[in-house]
Amino acid sequence: MKNELHKDVERILVSEEELKEIINNLSDKINKDYNGEELTVIVILKGSLIFASDLIRSLNMPVSIEFMRVSSYGAGTSSSGFINIKQDVECDIEGKNILIIEDIIDSGNTLYKLKKVLEERNPKTCRICTLLDKPERRTTEVLVDYQGKIIPDEFAVGYGLDYNENYRNLKYIGVLKREIYSN
Ligand code: IMP
Ligand code: MG
Repeated sequence: MKNELHKDVERILVSEEELKEIINNLSDKINKDYNGEELTVIVILKGSLIFASDLIRSLNMPVSIEFMRVSSYGAGTSSSGFINIKQDVECDIEGKNILIIEDIIDSGNTLYKLKKVLEERNPKTCRICTLLDKPERRTTEVLVDYQGKIIPDEFAVGYGLDYNENYRNLKYIGVLKREIYSN
């Protein structure tokens, strides 16, 4: 049965089928690269929750899961340029393989700063995996090790991504109608 498009969504950007394909490709690469080595994934809340839960189940090495919550957007649609750690990991990451799981990279500010903070704690490796990437909007260069899909400069919602805490439960990723956030 086809899902009906949410009334606030202009069009589908990444369908459920494509999400599965993206996750298969990403997990293949990650499984190859780490080659059975232990991995600590850091799930960046809240947006990455659904992506991470699908991705992690396709990983075949021993995996431990940590969560972080950092502030980026309030009710607006652009990044504020500073990072505020609202919730930190519960373990010492020194000497560990760290994979940061992010929903989307936009300006790059959040991940650039987050990676710096984590690298100061001396992990063995620290890499970034993002489901979506909007390179057109980049203001801070950040090395993305695993990139799901490049998308145009539009506001995406669904599959964990929100606007004002809404739309996270959509099964696909859609473009939010501009009228929803421009007034
Ligand atoms: P950056 O610091 O500008 O790279 O912001 C990244 C964060 O902003 C992401 O982790 C998202 O939480 C949020 N964000 C950026 N673009 C979008 C979007 O199109 N939809 C929903 N959230 C977004
Ligand atoms: Mg986020």
